[in-house]
Amino acid sequence: MSDNIHPIFDTILSTEKKENLLKQKSIVVWMVGLSGSGKSTIAEGLEKTLHQRGFLTALLDGDNLRTGVNNNLSFSQPDRIENIRRAAEVSKLFVSNGVITICSLISPTTEIRQMAKDIIGEKYCEVFIKCPLEVCEQRDVKGLYAKARKGEIPDFTGISSPFEEPNNPDIVIDTEKESIEKSLETLVTKIIEKIKI
Ligand code: ADX
Repeated sequence: MSDNIHPIFDTILSTEKKENLLKQKSIVVWMVGLSGSGKSTIAEGLEKTLHQRGFLTALLDGDNLRTGVNNNLSFSQPDRIENIRRAAEVSKLFVSNGVITICSLISPTTEIRQMAKDIIGEKYCEVFIKCPLEVCEQRDVKGLYAKARKGEIPDFTGISSPFEEPNNPDIVIDTEKESIEKSLETLVTKIIEKIKI
């Protein structure tokens, strides 16, 4: 860090004071998974349910972030690292202000997820939205797998760019075996346990 930068982290209002005001404990729910695994749908459902139950949330979705703060990034490995670094830093700002932050980004490698975890710290909660590539490709909700197979999308996760399954996620949601409704119910119960005061 430059000698000329003097952060004031230790004197600003604490996260705990914000959490007490909001009557919730803040965490970052970091959802990992292939395109088409159900991340965004579950993230949206989780946010709506928590909101209805009186929790303050923020939802950071990969595709959304890539239209704004990350709109200068491609899907090369260095750009994916930068994409996740910025998302993690933004999440850290939200969570340090007491907000339940739900992130939905492919986060394809162990290295990338470790970086997010290192940036966010103990409030990082990793949720693996598990679904085999074949099933995501069969669903092909956005038509992206078909394009990737035709060679129209370079560096496509699972096809021409790696996806490493998380080794030790905090929560696993299996969207191949369970319906979205059931997956959501399981996740909501587990998350509420962590955020209630
Ligand atoms: S990440 O790998 O850097 O974490 P991120 O979650 O931001 O990815 O963006 C993934 C989304 O971008 C996908 O859901 C899909 O809609 C879109 N997308 C466009 N091109 C690609 C690509 N080459 N690989 C993966 N997803 C892509």
